[in-house]
Amino acid sequence: MVFPRGGVRALAPIDLQLNRGEFAALVGPSGCGKSTLLRLVAGLLEPTAGSLSIENRSSGEVRLSNAHTLSFVFQQAALLPWRHVAGNVSVPLELEGISKSERNARVEEMLRLVGLEDFARALPHRLSGGMQMRVSLARALATQPSVLLLDEPFGALDEITRQRLNEELLRLWGNDGFTALFVTHNVYEAAFLSQRVLVMSKRPGQIVADIAVPFEYPRDSSLRSEPEFARLTGDISRALEVASS
Ligand SMILES: Nc1ncnc2c1ncn2[C@@H]1O[C@H](COP(=O)(O)OP(=O)(O)OP(=O)(O)O)[C@@H](O)[C@H]1O
Ligand SMILES: [Mg+2]
Repeated sequence: MVFPRGGVRALAPIDLQLNRGEFAALVGPSGCGKSTLLRLVAGLLEPTAGSLSIENRSSGEVRLSNAHTLSFVFQQAALLPWRHVAGNVSVPLELEGISKSERNARVEEMLRLVGLEDFARALPHRLSGGMQMRVSLARALATQPSVLLLDEPFGALDEITRQRLNEELLRLWGNDGFTALFVTHNVYEAAFLSQRVLVMSKRPGQIVADIAVPFEYPRDSSLRSEPEFARLTGDISRALEVASS
């Protein structure tokens, strides 16, 4: 992937296949092209060479034909400040022209799933950063996407809130079975969440390691203090160090 302006070669050729329903994490040094890769998968960017498909269709085709196949969660919750929590979760459903009664039912269910049913009428500025991110997750999942792309969604949160949201995200994934591609700088988060950790080299980024995470689901916070967990995060850190040098 080469950006036309400035001719930045962001990504080297990447051959990556995600299985349906899989949870994959993507780590790599800053500026190596992780966000670029996610934007390519989402069809927000066209590759300068090669092709990309989701469930046998090109990502551009998926985006145009069936927007709710794919959802994106960014580092900033990016909520509409003048809409209350329920109104924010409802946005993608409104864009899809879903009837009001169905929308209301779906929003209510999503807020229950992320534990915000008591805050449906609250405006975003009244919520903590972690709660705002829950709203953002609820909004992304409201349309029941089959692929969820997350670009450092919890990077701005404190460690405890991040851990809680990691557990919550796994619960949502367990319920819905979407395919997840999760970008993070945090090797503990990558290991806790995913079934495989993809390590990207510095720019132009390519995937230099694909590390299997053997822990069974459901996972809970006790996993973080297991010796095997420490061993695995050590392996990922070392791979990341090599990839960054
Ligand atoms: N629209 C653009 N035009 C030109 N260059 C770009 C554009 N978007 C990104 N780049 C460049 O592509 C490279 C990869 O950027 P990208 O944002 O994908 O990295 P990243 O791995 O997500 O970094 P970080 O970890 O800091 O978020 C960088 O050198 C960046 O400057
Ligand atoms: Mg990025």
